[in-house]
Amino acid sequence: MEVLLRNRAALHTLPATGLYPHQWSWDSAFTAIGLRHVSPRRAQQELESLLGAQWADGRLPQIVFDRQRDEDYSPGAAFWRSEEIPGSPAVPTAGLVQPPVHARAALAVHRADEAESRRRGFLERAHPRLLAWHGYLRTRRDRGGRGLASIVHPWESGMDNSPAWDGPLSRVPDVRAGGPGVPRPDLRHADPSERPSNAEYGRYLHLAARYRDHRCDDADAGHEFVCEDPAFNALWADAELAMAEVAAALGGDRAPHEARARELTAALEPLFSPALGTYAARDVRTGELQRVATVAGLLPLLLPHLPRAAELLATLRGPRFRLGTAVMVPSHDLTAAGFDRARYWRGPSWSSTTWLLVQALRGRGAVAEARALGAQLRRSALQHGFAEYVDPIDGTPHGTRAFTWTAALALDLELDPELG
Ligand code: SER
Repeated sequence: MEVLLRNRAALHTLPATGLYPHQWSWDSAFTAIGLRHVSPRRAQQELESLLGAQWADGRLPQIVFDRQRDEDYSPGAAFWRSEEIPGSPAVPTAGLVQPPVHARAALAVHRADEAESRRRGFLERAHPRLLAWHGYLRTRRDRGGRGLASIVHPWESGMDNSPAWDGPLSRVPDVRAGGPGVPRPDLRHADPSERPSNAEYGRYLHLAARYRDHRCDDADAGHEFVCEDPAFNALWADAELAMAEVAAALGGDRAPHEARARELTAALEPLFSPALGTYAARDVRTGELQRVATVAGLLPLLLPHLPRAAELLATLRGPRFRLGTAVMVPSHDLTAAGFDRARYWRGPSWSSTTWLLVQALRGRGAVAEARALGAQLRRSALQHGFAEYVDPIDGTPHGTRAFTWTAALALDLELDPELG
């Protein structure tokens, strides 16, 4: 609770003071899941402030910027210049998006205090915005034409430097070629060996600039990075299941959302790799599945009608992810040559993905494993001052500390009647 209070800014919560000084999309959703136990109203406001930055086309932006802190983060409001793009909101934002976990968070926040939710009209007001957000993904982001949303930047996966993006990124120009270096204010707050490299940042900035220069219109046929991510799409399918509950709570029809979740679950099927025992990202430009097992490929375990649940559970419990013996769930295959125990999304364990797998295990009836994994997350969070990520083998903390979603999700598990 102290971390949640300390990182509070206006109506939202910073992921961490210093490293991430603005509002992030999926961070706010996880933050609200923890905040609902402290103050349901604050949890509602956390989501409302993000929903208030929705674009006319329905997208929820990756970052809502605080202009006062624009020097402290790159790329910021001055880079995106969102106010020049038609359909952008009144506040400055990034043009990219992040995984659609907001409907799941809104439902949890509503259920934390239904009387307060009704009194403030929280769910009624959130509902059309969540519908528009999912509508954006359906209509503007099906770049592969197979019913899945594509991401157009590694940042949109939320797992920036995941090895899943190495192949697609290798075809992206590096802005450093012939230009100045890339600004790295993040390295003032974290060890460079624990962050994405300059070579990755050179490509991230190229893609962000190109997307911005095409007015974020999702119509650039030459965009160099277009990928179908199993985690992004599984979280969208899970969000549709949450929308079925939201619709029912408002006296509406749950059926179209349930149908949509089944369609998305079926559309994920071609991303399954029997060799890896996980789902894998597909590069839409080449059609190739990326042959790397990451935690993203395990997140379809959240989906009740998944045909591959047994294979995913075996992989999660096997040598690649070592459920039960790893500290939490690693972000990358422990047996892979490129596994890096300290560097951002190339190996370390994160609370967000671990918390999601706790929910998935519970949903599949593996309650003892869910409880044990949740206990590990809480122990690790308390022991290391709510670290951003940890070494999955020995638990050494990495990244920044007093990290909001680590605190929010540890709190949520602590207070979970079945798992706490
Ligand atoms: N994760 C990114 C960063 O490190 C932004 O979404 O800044």
